[in-house]
Amino acid sequence: MAGRNFLFVPGPTNVPDRVLRAMAVPMEDHRSPIFPELTRACLQTLKPVFKTTSASPILFPSSGTGCWEAALTNCLNPGDKILASRFGQFSHLWVDMCIRLGFDVEVLETPWGEGAPVERYLASLSADKQHKIKAVLVCQNETATGVTSDVAAIRRALDSVKHPALLFVDSVSALASIDFRMDEWGVDVCVSGSQKGLMLPAGMGITCVSQKALEAAKTAKSRRCYFDYADMVNANASGYFPYTPSIPMLYGLRESLAMLAEEGLENVFKRHSYLAGGVRAAVLEGWKLKLCATSPKWHSDTVSAIMVPDGINGADVIARAFKRYNLALGAGLSKVAGKLFRIGHLGDLNELMLLGALGGAEMAMLDSGVKVEPGSGAAAAQNFWRSNPAASSQKAA
Ligand SMILES: Cc1ncc(COP(=O)(O)O)c(C=O)c1O
Repeated sequence: MAGRNFLFVPGPTNVPDRVLRAMAVPMEDHRSPIFPELTRACLQTLKPVFKTTSASPILFPSSGTGCWEAALTNCLNPGDKILASRFGQFSHLWVDMCIRLGFDVEVLETPWGEGAPVERYLASLSADKQHKIKAVLVCQNETATGVTSDVAAIRRALDSVKHPALLFVDSVSALASIDFRMDEWGVDVCVSGSQKGLMLPAGMGITCVSQKALEAAKTAKSRRCYFDYADMVNANASGYFPYTPSIPMLYGLRESLAMLAEEGLENVFKRHSYLAGGVRAAVLEGWKLKLCATSPKWHSDTVSAIMVPDGINGADVIARAFKRYNLALGAGLSKVAGKLFRIGHLGDLNELMLLGALGGAEMAMLDSGVKVEPGSGAAAAQNFWRSNPAASSQKAA
């Protein structure tokens, strides 16, 4: 097909040309005397992205899923009790992993479209007088439903009952796009990946581990080897890795971190919120459709999950968008398969790129029998963007 493929799944996201160019490098000796400069540049520059001074960023040659597993197997003993909530495919998969690894999970089942139920976390934590719960899991941004949860509130719940459990946060589709504060929120492990807000290809698990979690890892007896934090932290201390790292990914990461620093992390968050506002205007005011997120307090600034009307199969809209308009939209997963399609609005994006996605989604919906007013989505998004301050301080007002 002529022209660019429009990649609007909520990860992998568009990789900026600058990052692609930085990754086009010949292979080199990852044990050379100069290699530590690259390792250190990546690890040091990641700290402000996690908003931490004391925790250790760790890079695994995996994806986010590997970092989920690393958190569980490094910090916990076999059979330990975990408190988690489940309200979408990714929070579900993390719970499923806990069960498959033999942990004892208390699951707070929550309707898809809502976020982490803080009051119910609090109730479970305060009932746990013997501190059997060793880890609390929260998915900051549920990519399947376009729902963002309040991680700070979960920390407050833990503190209010002086519960010592470790706090593990999945920030795969939030980090570097929606505010995340490792130190301030007392997060013990943050799990993320390369292919979303960090604007890299998929294939690097990016995680950050508090001193408290590293301490727990010293005595935790769950079996692990490839994902051992201690092996990684010890090798990283001298600028190396315990096994061969993906060298192009490290160059790409160094470049994407430079781009984030140039824009300014707070500007990056503002841009995401501003772009998301335009998409939501298109969905709610233009197309007069519903989001899967049931209330504005759950609205995600990185992904919108758009409910299709009854009688329409969301998968048809997605297939039409892909085949006819060269536009990749996110699918409805598991419980919401066929009921929605998703527009990812994270990473290296601006208004005009999103207008392309909104136009393509609108044509695909019309072709699939959804009765939206032609042009209404783009018009509502344009009105939103034109009447709101430009996202970045570098742009003209
Ligand atoms: C919220 C969330 N958690 C975890 C994952 C799994 O990450 P990965 O596919 O990088 O293993 C994803 C993937 O999209 C995700 O969106």
